[in-house]
Amino acid sequence: MPESERIERLTFESAQVWPQAAETRRGEVALVMAQNLSREYGNVAALKRASLRIFPGDSIALLGLSGSGKSTLLHLLGGLDQPTGGELSWPALGDSADLRPSKVAFVFQAQSLMPPLTALENVALPLLLLGAAPDDARQRAADALETLDLLSVAQQLPEELSGGQAQRVAVARALVTNPQLILADEPTGQLDSQTAQHLMDVLLAALGPDTALVMATHDETVARRLKTVWRMKDGILEELP
Ligand SMILES: Nc1ncnc2c1ncn2[C@@H]1O[C@H](COP(=O)(O)OP(=O)(O)OP(=O)(O)O)[C@@H](O)[C@H]1O
Ligand SMILES: [Mg+2]
Repeated sequence: MPESERIERLTFESAQVWPQAAETRRGEVALVMAQNLSREYGNVAALKRASLRIFPGDSIALLGLSGSGKSTLLHLLGGLDQPTGGELSWPALGDSADLRPSKVAFVFQAQSLMPPLTALENVALPLLLLGAAPDDARQRAADALETLDLLSVAQQLPEELSGGQAQRVAVARALVTNPQLILADEPTGQLDSQTAQHLMDVLLAALGPDTALVMATHDETVARRLKTVWRMKDGILEELP
């Protein structure tokens, strides 16, 4: 057996495995489950054996210093990246091919709007990809922009928006499809504290009882508004309650 395969098997066999019942909590099925989830980039261990569960209604702040692995974990939870070790599943959402764009929405840390599209068109895009009629998509996109006080910039291109406005347009784009899981990577990173709090009001109000939010942040006051705080250090997710 080649060395790499042997190591993979050993890692797999020594993995801690959740009992089957762990898929549910108080009768609810987990949106995401991870066991010993790891991600290495070359010889950098960005995420080390994280085990976690996320259920409908959870709102989780992911706190940790720059480079501690927050974005790495969020990308894995959304099926945007492949783990190099451990187990990852979406019991209530189906397999990873089904995850987007209807069920999981991302607010990326870096600028992610489509440059040739206006703010309104950027927000309407996921609806169009899901098959919504163009007029319906435009109306729902306008409603989402209005919720975030962005109607006045609806016709502007991303390059004509401030950093904070672009960040809020990205939040509107994530909310517009009513996803079951929202993964937000420092969505308040470029905002003044008043706008950050307003964005949190909107995000929390948009969370239905069946929606979960996981949000990476450096801001303790933002983190305190969520039900649960997870801390990361050097790729390690601290022991969860
Ligand atoms: N594509 C990549 N290739 C190589 N190394 C990477 C890659 N992405 C992340 N890393 C490394 O993995 C570690 C974790 O990075 P990650 O982006 O998850 O941190 P973070 O907690 O999100 O940081 P920040 O608060 O600055 O956004 C860092 O050491 C980083 O350099
Ligand atoms: Mg990051």
